[in-house]
Amino acid sequence: MNATTAVDAAALQEAAKRNLWLHFTRHSGFSGADIPMIVRGEGQYVFDQHGKRYLDGLAGLFVSQIGHGRTDVAEAGARQAGELAYFPLWSYAHPRAVELAERLASYSPGDLNRVFFTTSGSEAVESAWKLAKQYFRLTGQPTRYKVLSRYIAYHGTSHGALAVTGLPDIKIPFEPLPPGGVRVPNTNFYRAPEFVAGDATAFGVWAADEIERAILREGPESVAAVYLEPVQNSGGCFPPPPGYFDRVREICDKYGVLMVSDEVICAFGRLGYIFGCERYGYTPDIITFAKGVTSGYSPLGGMMVSDRLMEPYLKDQNTFLHGVTFAGHPVSCAVALANLDVFEKEDLLGNVRTNEGAFRATLEKLYDLPIVGDVRGDGYFYGIEMVKDKATRETFSDEESERLLRGFLSHALFDAGLICRADDRGDPVIQLSPPLTCTQEHFDEIEQILREVLTEAWTHI
Ligand SMILES: Cc1ncc(COP(=O)(O)O)c(C=O)c1O
Repeated sequence: MNATTAVDAAALQEAAKRNLWLHFTRHSGFSGADIPMIVRGEGQYVFDQHGKRYLDGLAGLFVSQIGHGRTDVAEAGARQAGELAYFPLWSYAHPRAVELAERLASYSPGDLNRVFFTTSGSEAVESAWKLAKQYFRLTGQPTRYKVLSRYIAYHGTSHGALAVTGLPDIKIPFEPLPPGGVRVPNTNFYRAPEFVAGDATAFGVWAADEIERAILREGPESVAAVYLEPVQNSGGCFPPPPGYFDRVREICDKYGVLMVSDEVICAFGRLGYIFGCERYGYTPDIITFAKGVTSGYSPLGGMMVSDRLMEPYLKDQNTFLHGVTFAGHPVSCAVALANLDVFEKEDLLGNVRTNEGAFRATLEKLYDLPIVGDVRGDGYFYGIEMVKDKATRETFSDEESERLLRGFLSHALFDAGLICRADDRGDPVIQLSPPLTCTQEHFDEIEQILREVLTEAWTHI
């Protein structure tokens, strides 16, 4: 690094510490340390201000499906900004939003033909709740407003989305939240209750039936929707047990509750399909999406909605009384179209489907380490649960987990050149979600770094 760059780097650090507020970050942790500064990306890698390379094992934040540094996608955004940088979707349309809506409808299951754009995942989750509430008012069921979601599931941070979220710690400072959020069990088979432990099908039936019991407890006439990710992220990748989603679909139909597939992470190839629900063979009433729709080259979110839900909004003076200035931004829509072109030209879904078995097998090599309790996930989306005792599945105390995750692992993995997430919003896990362009060489690099760092972590326990 030359002298000028060193000065720039120091000035940037200083300004970051003085003026920038990071999200979900303990700023006190940086009093004696640099804030990691990522300046550039190329393919599956990003580089910091000192030129050090990191394998992006989290695709930024479950976002960068096609990888970094794609000038073709960036140029599509630039061209659009020159042609029409901005126009709202409030009573006008613009061509890129129409083309993207049509394209997404062509990929979506069932009759989810209508796209309502947002700028983020939280807005998509929140919009789906509002759409459901107003839909039920328009169709003569005005008492339906409650939303069910699963323990430890993350669905976003705005007040409405936070009420759907199932993580108590990030909700408490913001109480009271909008009423109506109700929790049901998640599909963490590794931690299944004893009476269904070891039988994935029975566990799935029990977890789905808990949704029915919650609906009955709350009163079906008060329940609007149930939010489920195809694979729950928070807690460390819980795929659905066999039959789970079929049973949930039946329950939703029986009680007239809308099924929302929150695919903010799981859509756009993460599980080898454009939409995660396709992988598990269910058709929801609403799909919420964001992140991978543009691979992060510009922000965009939205929801795909069935024709049935749109129908009452097409009549008389009825209007969905909701909107966001930048939703469906022309630049973001142009970028999303270019992103999806890359998916098709480079067969990224095929790449995930071909290589996901190898990804799993490579991660499963880590089972020889005493700290690795469970390796779980699907597609290019995995969680590795760390335990204190493999035989009993004993987890770490809060204090041990704090020391392990924040005291050691987060820094050590980054220092070793791997971007991933060490998280203890449930039991302690490492989360992986690499770009969809990754192949065996990247899986091996991930495994080697994890092996080295987790071996050392064990000596700190
Ligand atoms: C399943 C799910 N829903 C909603 C959100 C919120 O998305 P955003 O951060 O874009 O608001 C996230 C974010 O990670 C998510 O994983």
